[in-house]
Amino acid sequence: MSAETRVEVRPLIDTDRGWANQLIAEEWGSSLMVSRGVLYDMTIFPGFVAWRGPERVGLLTYRIAGHECEVMSLDSRAEGIGVGSALLAAVQTAAQLAGCSRLWLITTNDNVHALRFYQKRGFRLAALYPNALEASRRLKPQIPLIGLEGIPLRDEIELEIILDN
Ligand SMILES: CC(C)(COP(=O)(O)OP(=O)(O)OC[C@H]1O[C@@H](n2cnc3c(N)ncnc32)[C@H](O)[C@@H]1OP(=O)(O)O)[C@@H](O)C(=O)NCCC(=O)NCCS
Repeated sequence: MSAETRVEVRPLIDTDRGWANQLIAEEWGSSLMVSRGVLYDMTIFPGFVAWRGPERVGLLTYRIAGHECEVMSLDSRAEGIGVGSALLAAVQTAAQLAGCSRLWLITTNDNVHALRFYQKRGFRLAALYPNALEASRRLKPQIPLIGLEGIPLRDEIELEIILDN
């Protein structure tokens, strides 16, 4: 791989925050995100930033609660060159080092690309929450009715990797 395409992942630091907050607002419509009926302020979580040379090309944020680590967001600004995979590998290592027994995340029924992506990287389907988006919209009214590829946006899907700890 050439120097221009090599992807390096570093922990999110204070100087990344402005860029990270802007990316989240652009990709997710606001700095607030709903997961399993809870509204989160996305500007406070730890994370990892993917760099290609001098450019930031991806962001993953996560939260650790008890022995579980939830991926709160994952966004690649340079798809298909390993950014998403590298960020996931970094959070899996961080979760393992923190003593977590489970890495998990929520995606939505319309995000068939993410479902494919995560399953190919070891995640298993753990739960389906039918119609969960109805409750989420009460907390975050900007969530659209129609999601990616014209698919009605209705359900939350939980994916997980059980970690050896
Ligand atoms: C899902 C997402 C994070 C994937 O990020 P990405 O940077 O494209 O991920 P990768 O490059 O690691 O992998 C994507 C594909 O590129 C391929 N790829 C990885 N490195 C590659 C390389 N060096 N050369 C060519 N292809 C490569 C992978 O094989 C993969 O294909 P596969 O899923 O069939 O195996 C990205 O599409 C995204 O940001 N989506 C929008 C936000 C979103 O939906 N986030 C998840 C919400 S829960």
